[in-house]
Amino acid sequence: MDSTLACLAAWMPRQRWYAAKGRPPSLRLIAWWELPAPDAAGTRLRTYLVADEGALPVVLYQIPIVARATETVDAHPDHIIGSPEPGTTFIDGPFDPAFTDALVRLMLSGGTGAGPRATAKGVVALALPGDSPRSATVLTGEQSNTSVIYESAVDDEIPIIVKLYRQVHPGLNPDIELASALAAAGSAHVPRAVGAIEGTWPDSETARGGVTGSFAFAQEFLPDVEDAWRVALQSAAAGDDFRERAAALGTTTAEVHLSLARLFPTTSMDAHERESTQASWTRRLAIASAEVPGIAERREQIEDVYRRAATRRWPAAQRIHGDYHLGQVLHVPKRGWVLVDFEGEPLRPMSERTRPDLALRDVAGMLRSFDYVAGSIRLDDPRRDAASVRDWARSARTAFIDAYAAASGTPLDRDDPLLAALELDKAVYESIYESRNRPTWVSIPLRAIERLVGA
Ligand SMILES: Nc1ncnc2c1ncn2[C@@H]1O[C@H](COP(=O)(O)OP(=O)(O)O)[C@@H](O)[C@H]1O
Ligand SMILES: [Mg+2]
Repeated sequence: MDSTLACLAAWMPRQRWYAAKGRPPSLRLIAWWELPAPDAAGTRLRTYLVADEGALPVVLYQIPIVARATETVDAHPDHIIGSPEPGTTFIDGPFDPAFTDALVRLMLSGGTGAGPRATAKGVVALALPGDSPRSATVLTGEQSNTSVIYESAVDDEIPIIVKLYRQVHPGLNPDIELASALAAAGSAHVPRAVGAIEGTWPDSETARGGVTGSFAFAQEFLPDVEDAWRVALQSAAAGDDFRERAAALGTTTAEVHLSLARLFPTTSMDAHERESTQASWTRRLAIASAEVPGIAERREQIEDVYRRAATRRWPAAQRIHGDYHLGQVLHVPKRGWVLVDFEGEPLRPMSERTRPDLALRDVAGMLRSFDYVAGSIRLDDPRRDAASVRDWARSARTAFIDAYAAASGTPLDRDDPLLAALELDKAVYESIYESRNRPTWVSIPLRAIERLVGA
């Protein structure tokens, strides 16, 4: 087993979904489970659950592999993990048809997989033929998980997308929980849910008993669509009028929020909750003041905005998207805007992500995203007329807010102090993220902070 862990540890840091960039993992094997292998003797379809104990808190990764006799391997070198024992080669599961076939069959037919200390169970949400042939393609892009698209050769069978959660957590993943509930309630603003894989494994924290959680989620795949980030970027670059589409996005966002408030419990924000929200803003601000040049000078002004937010009546907290930006929305012809990825902010602990929160946090996330469209265009081409992209972002912003307010049935001022505080908190977070990862981008949140404290 040591050689298997060493092999995985050497390969993981090169993967997009690996969280601890720049630090090699410190792995412990928690469990593994297997799917029935199709043909060749000795081929194994095994999914390892390994804990990176160098991370704080510890991260539990899910790593499906196909183990094949080395002389039979014809995988592309990029998809080979390594050879932990002589004569056997590990292939990255999503890139091997034996694994992708078995995975989709498990979800569509409600089967089971098992290992000595873990189990996996397919949960069917939409009845589709389980064993008709489908071709599998791994989605490429900046993703924190791994998604596989399945296209059927049969004409009227819908394509599906299976998202394999790379980090697994105890409990139902909020992505599955929220998107499935919205789809079941008849919302057209999310893809239809097709199925999921739920599993059990030993509790690595207490070393006692087992926990249950989500391994994968299947939804209808919407082909030939663009995400809202691309649509917005093209519109802003061309100087198009985006107001109508921004307004439609505001309406869709409000409708999703209203549905979530109906489908899940809401809680009033009492004094204690408000104080703890403000304390989290102040904590982030302290980190940014220490790390990001230019923030410390603004600290007082930023805190003034946080204080003003406290004077407003706060709405009840409810379940929200949690990581809302243009990249999480698809533009679907004849259907409108469709939301994906309800997993919440990846850097927050799961216990926080499943708690009710302010719906305005999603609104603030989208407003920051409009500003990023303008900011990235300016970064790309510094000679460009700054005023025109700024106007684009401003008009997208007002159209979005006004439509959101109208559809939600609750008035929302464009300069609402709570919205300003949430936007500011997000920009402060971005300033930390950018200064650590993409220092040339830090000007985008810094400019936004200037503007928001001036308001
Ligand atoms: N049902 C779907 N139909 C079409 N494209 C999708 C669908 N779900 C996701 N995508 C595409 O895949 C990307 C990544 O999906 P997402 O759920 O956001 O995964 P991650 O958690 O890895 O960010 C999305 O930004 C979108 O472009
Ligand atoms: Mg995403």
